[in-house]
Amino acid sequence: MLKVVVCVSGGGTNLQAIIDAVASGKITNTEFVGVISNNYGVKSIERAQKAGIPAYVLSPKDFADRAEFNDALLAKVKETGADLVVLAGFLVRIPEALVKEYSNRIVNIHPSLIPSFCGVGYYGLKVHEKALERGVKYTGATVHFVNEGMDEGPIIAQKPVAVEDGDTAEILQRRVMEQAEWILLPQAIDDIANDRIEVVNNKVVRK
Ligand code: GRF
Repeated sequence: MLKVVVCVSGGGTNLQAIIDAVASGKITNTEFVGVISNNYGVKSIERAQKAGIPAYVLSPKDFADRAEFNDALLAKVKETGADLVVLAGFLVRIPEALVKEYSNRIVNIHPSLIPSFCGVGYYGLKVHEKALERGVKYTGATVHFVNEGMDEGPIIAQKPVAVEDGDTAEILQRRVMEQAEWILLPQAIDDIANDRIEVVNNKVVRK
């Protein structure tokens, strides 16, 4: 049974997608051991509580400095006993010590086709604003393992989404969530839970 801890920052629609996927059997062999938010009072905490998943808030504001927060985050992840860390809309730089301790065991969902529109400063609506500004005909989402870089880890899966005339960043974000993020993340977790993929020479291959 794969033990999964999910890190969130806001609405938690990706968290909800994986909660629903476990409940419906789309994800098998998986149990949630915790949800960790860096913000108080966000909907993702409510979603976790409704699903009976232990929810924790670790706000950087509650710590003397970033190093203390980073230590607390690593300690909390380890305390949950998680095998896999899922970053679902988690807007925090992952501490190097956590990346080292959970090498190829941290998964992130990014709302673009990496390497487009990713890296420092590319998160949430900003990603879609830049895609519209560039005039791409397709964008999409990427689920990848997290390494010490920003959005640079081995890619697990991607899904293209058409950009339509008249799209605003909000409309495009919603389409990318519905047609890509909420499909890719559950599929990736199910693949990992059922030992279908591995990382070879920094590339993800199916076994
Ligand atoms: C989504 O666009 C996701 O791709 C990004 O954060 C945004 C909010 O996600 N990582 P959620 O609704 O909190 O899951």
